[in-house]
Amino acid sequence: MSTAPTADAIRSQLADINDPESGRPLTAMEQVVAIEAASDRIAVTVGLTSHSAVLWKQTRGRIEERLRTAFPAVTDVSVTITPHQRAPGKLGQIGLEAKSVIAVGSGKGGVGKSTLAVSLAIGLARAGSRVGILDADVYGPSVPHLVGLEGRPAINDGKIVPQQLNPGQPVDPLPDGLTVQPMPIMSMGFMVPPGEAVVWRGPMLHGAITQMLRDTLWGPLDYLIIDMPPGTGDIALTLSQVLPLSGAVVVCTPQDVALLDATKAIAMFQKVNIPVLGMVENMSFFVCPDTGKRYNIFGTGGAERTAKELEIPFLGEVPIQIPIREHGDAGNTAANYDDPQARPYLESICSRLVGGLAARNAAAPPLPSLPTL
Ligand SMILES: Nc1ncnc2c1ncn2[C@@H]1O[C@H](COP(=O)(O)OP(=O)(O)O)[C@@H](O)[C@H]1O
Ligand SMILES: [Mg+2]
Repeated sequence: MSTAPTADAIRSQLADINDPESGRPLTAMEQVVAIEAASDRIAVTVGLTSHSAVLWKQTRGRIEERLRTAFPAVTDVSVTITPHQRAPGKLGQIGLEAKSVIAVGSGKGGVGKSTLAVSLAIGLARAGSRVGILDADVYGPSVPHLVGLEGRPAINDGKIVPQQLNPGQPVDPLPDGLTVQPMPIMSMGFMVPPGEAVVWRGPMLHGAITQMLRDTLWGPLDYLIIDMPPGTGDIALTLSQVLPLSGAVVVCTPQDVALLDATKAIAMFQKVNIPVLGMVENMSFFVCPDTGKRYNIFGTGGAERTAKELEIPFLGEVPIQIPIREHGDAGNTAANYDDPQARPYLESICSRLVGGLAARNAAAPPLPSLPTL
């Protein structure tokens, strides 16, 4: 009978598997909680944070595969993921408690920025991350409509009590230790009666965004997703002044004009020192439900080519699907994740986004670790 692998041998196999939040080795971040080994059995427990919830399954699979390959004589390899607590720090002068603040923007209106901002936020929340949404499109707020919420938020002690969106339950049950949390949402659309126009000058715009960020009771967040207005850099500049953003996701369609606008948006974000986390191509193609035939309505592959040229990550594509439009119009964007046609595209973008953040975090100073509960 073969001897049991030592804990050290097992640990050294895990030394180059990275924590999907910090991008640093699990072993260096004290996230290997327990190792048990016998000649025929290895059981490893690893702590992961809710920030990387969308990558728990993938990380677990990688660890399992690594151990099976390294210790072929062991027939029973079991990897358990438990929650690892790592509280968000306070960002900027406004003290927002969030780990990653992500702006979703483009140069052009109508490309599906708001739809994707809300969909990505919901995807992360359904996976078990704590997510809030700030609608920074002060002139044309569409987040309230996309999530079916309305009405003025209550003010408590000078603070805005945000509306909470229930993102719905995932199709597959979440791993133990993760739960779907209600999502705080703040938008100018809750403050101004529908149909009424906001006419503001730059400084007021700056004030409104700063106030929504600073005075909303967001609670501690893994992600704050910001739905950006189209076009000019005013809001991006304001954001870059009040808090450090993790970066921006730029949405475009495959059309040349949209790509040109997206390229300008990328330059704009870079100018105000907001890193571009990647590009998403929306309305990439349409598959006719009657015939199954694919139509490249706005052309195809343009965003991926542009991303390559600009050396920024390509995060994925989303086809034109009638239900995506219908769910948005019905105020039920969350239903995109109940839809087997839409879900895989959106989930894949969420995973690549979070994976990209981890890679960036690896280059930043390490985050303080709290003991695992
Ligand atoms: N992939 C898609 N398939 C079908 N309709 C979409 C898709 N993406 C966005 N839409 C629809 O296009 C319209 C514009 O989207 P929106 O998210 O408001 O764009 P933006 O914020 O860039 O102005 C909305 O009616 C939305 O439902
Ligand atoms: Mg919009």
